[in-house]
This record gives sequence, C-alpha cells and structure tokens, in this order.
Amino acid sequence: MKHLVCKYEDLKNVNKMAVSIDRKSIVVVMSDGGEVYALRDVCPHKGPCLSAGMLDKNCTGDNTGEYIFEKEREVLRCPWHSWEFDIKTGRSLFDPEKVWVKTYEVTIKDDLVYVEV
Ligand code: FES
Repeated sequence: MKHLVCKYEDLKNVNKMAVSIDRKSIVVVMSDGGEVYALRDVCPHKGPCLSAGMLDKNCTGDNTGEYIFEKEREVLRCPWHSWEFDIKTGRSLFDPEKVWVKTYEVTIKDDLVYVEV
C-alpha cells in the first residue's frame, strides 16, 4: 500500500527525512541527482536510526594515498560506527551480500512522495 510521506520540494531542502509508516521506521533520502529512495531506518549492526547519519559519497582507491570519490550523496553512513549503505540498494559497501537494510518502493506524483509498505 502506498503512503504519502512528504512533498518532493520539502525533501529537496533537507535531503533525508525519518518517517513512520505502520509502525515501521523508514528514512526517505534524496540523491544528488534528485532521485528519491526509502530504506529501513535501523542500522543492522546495533540499531540506531540511519536517518541520524550522513548522506555522503563513497571513497575508493587501489593504491596508498589514492582517493577516488564516487556516488556523491548516494551513501548513507550510520552515525555510530560508520557502516555505509548504498541508498539505491540498501546494501552495505563492505559486505553487500550479507549486510543490508530493507528498501521500499518510492513513487513521486504531483510533487508528492509516496512510499510503498
Ligand atoms: S550501529 Fe551502525 S555501524 Fe554500528
């Protein structure tokens, strides 16, 4: 079932927003490109709200001292121990097959954001 969570323009101003739908904690986030995603707002490590973390980029590099920044504002970092999650898939960056958070389908219609739960 689709639930109205916010206006697209309101989300644009804050980039991420914690919402509760049917007693589920969900974080709605907007990428740098303006796409909107929804993830379970609970870190699978120790349980804090991911919505209290930062939206950031990913940093990789093959050699010492090499920093390659990618996925600008597409990584949600847990506020406690900095586990990072891809906002598009919910998968962790360090072990995507084993550590992830649930994602929810998002629909945008007439400047309104809906999350399917
Ligand atoms: S509680 Fe989230 S990374 Fe530890």
